[in-house]
Amino acid sequence: MTTTTGTPLVTGALGTARTRIEGRDKVTGAARYTGDIPLPQLAHGWLVLSTVARGRVRSVEVEPVLAMPGVLAVLHHENAPRVNMDYTSMLGRPDPILGVFQNDRVPFMGWPVALVVAERPEQAREAAEQLVVHYDQEPHDVTFFAGHPDAYTPAESSFGPAEQSKGDVEAELAASVFVVDSEYTTPEEHHNPMEPHAATAYWDGGRLEVLDSNQGSTLVATELAQIFSLDPGSVRVRSEHVGGGFGSKTVRPTQVAAAMAATVLQRPVRVVMTRRQMFSAIGYRSPTAQRVRLGADADGRLRALDHRNECLTSTVHEFIERSASVGRVMYDAPAHHTSDRVVRLDVPTPTFMRGPGEAPGSFALECAFDELAEKCGIDPIELRVRNEPDRGPISGLPFSSRNLIACYEEGARRFGWADRDPQPGVRREGRWLLGTGMAAASFHSGVGPSTAGVTAEADGTFTVRINAADIGTGARTAIALVAADGLKVDPERVRVVIADSALGPGMFAGGSMGTRSWAWAVAIAVRELRERLALGGDIPPEGITARSDTSDVIGSLSQKERHSFGAQFAEVAVDVTSGEVRVRRMLGIFAAGRIVNPLTARNQLVGGMIWGISMALHEEAVRDRASGGHVGPDLAGYHFAANADVPIVEADWVDDPDPDDPVGIKGVGEVGIVGAAAAIANAVWHATGVRHRHLPIRPDRVL
Ligand code: MOS
Repeated sequence: MTTTTGTPLVTGALGTARTRIEGRDKVTGAARYTGDIPLPQLAHGWLVLSTVARGRVRSVEVEPVLAMPGVLAVLHHENAPRVNMDYTSMLGRPDPILGVFQNDRVPFMGWPVALVVAERPEQAREAAEQLVVHYDQEPHDVTFFAGHPDAYTPAESSFGPAEQSKGDVEAELAASVFVVDSEYTTPEEHHNPMEPHAATAYWDGGRLEVLDSNQGSTLVATELAQIFSLDPGSVRVRSEHVGGGFGSKTVRPTQVAAAMAATVLQRPVRVVMTRRQMFSAIGYRSPTAQRVRLGADADGRLRALDHRNECLTSTVHEFIERSASVGRVMYDAPAHHTSDRVVRLDVPTPTFMRGPGEAPGSFALECAFDELAEKCGIDPIELRVRNEPDRGPISGLPFSSRNLIACYEEGARRFGWADRDPQPGVRREGRWLLGTGMAAASFHSGVGPSTAGVTAEADGTFTVRINAADIGTGARTAIALVAADGLKVDPERVRVVIADSALGPGMFAGGSMGTRSWAWAVAIAVRELRERLALGGDIPPEGITARSDTSDVIGSLSQKERHSFGAQFAEVAVDVTSGEVRVRRMLGIFAAGRIVNPLTARNQLVGGMIWGISMALHEEAVRDRASGGHVGPDLAGYHFAANADVPIVEADWVDDPDPDDPVGIKGVGEVGIVGAAAAIANAVWHATGVRHRHLPIRPDRVL
């Protein structure tokens, strides 16, 4: 087995460490984000969100606010243009929150009820804060708990069935020598990218132009065309630089409200969300209540795996945090059951948040595996190795590649796992109890359709045009490396143009599918270009361009289980006097396909692992039952790991090219968070002898 530390996987540009092409622009302030771009005649919109958790808007006192300095308009449900919400996008049916100001219903606290537009942002904000909205309030219910009587099994979605089973779980559990039956909870968690959601809209002739912060301009342009009943060619969305997305930057009220106001006022309008608004209007991760039952023979081989998850959604839209699905990939058993159920409450609709499903699901499943290892008296890694499936446990399909055992071996070697005393609660250093833990990780590897154009320029350089989104991941740089590798030229000679829906359909940066989807389209266009260049002849002034469209190619991809995998290791110290848990070091070894750029891939994996520290120890949005809103919805009230909480975190990988991908890519965006919280929780048990099944592992819970 080989790892790639310091050595490229392949000759050529692919696999070489490159700093971000736009890195200098970003650190010198030359890179402009959506909210920074000056425009003549720009007006500023400020969203007003509901202050009640359920009811109807009775009236909006518009007149006093219209008399305030600089105020141009107040849009609300009685005067806003009507929009179309009857469509289906790549992400399914739209969340009704996108249909801003269409009716008087308030389904949760933080629902957009008005947009105040003014000449200057300060004027808009002042007027928005002065705007009086009268509500007819109704009783609300925001309380999520395990075994909620209103929980139901959602219908099968494009993301898969809500429930799958084989064999007789109860019979196999009864026949098992060792049984684990544990309940785990994870709280409501929020992604809150540093750059807030921001959009500027204006009309240029008959075309709606939108400057936006998003994870995919094709997705946003397509949906805006639907919402405003426009021809797709009449909407152009650009998002040159994006300061983080993490699943939250799809179509949001920002783009719709800005486009609405630009239409009404016939001038450019910018809408930027505040940090507080982002806590209710951009989606978040549902809390989960999970029960895992594992039954094993004396030798640790599973007879039964039962993983039941419950999550919440809003009353207006269904989003499922598919936590139980992780078991369908990780472990087989003669009896196997996985299910996700959901309850509707008067809360905002949750959405994709880094490692959607797998992040909370792996916490429960991988902690349960640690509990089983303890009961069986088998090392946690050995137990997992004994339960490695040859094929998809439920699908029966072969894996495209599954190098998880290589991750365990390399991780164990580098972490020093062999010397571990399995006994919990026996290592002490002053007032600290010490422990180590591990967990496995997986995240599905998908691909979406993209088009690309690659041009050989007359001056010997190359230009790649693809509507990719660089949300901070280094997408531009990865695309340059893929193109340079195929063209067999220095990456310095490749220019990359992205983030403009006018470039043609491109996959969004989500589901760990961005780099793989774009690289596929670029690789095909590059191959075609090389064939044409091989014919010889001069390059005309406009260059020679080859184009690709992968929508047919990826549809014919053979049916397989395709996932990135990983092994997470953590060492913690637990303060017996304060209950504080400190992570001392983490190591993640991943099998995540061919690594295009070790520098930025490591960023993704380490970033995910740090988020795992946050998830394990800090993150928890607290909802106030009485008001239905959050307590402290800002970056002070919502705790997450700061630099002082983050010790040495190392991520590396084993050789694992996807055999069916033209570049060998699988995806590294999300697998880094998966299993990270479980590794830490398992280390806390090893330190203290106490199982912590409810996140976050706060000091008051430890004591
Ligand atoms: Mo990812 S949570 O699909 O951006």
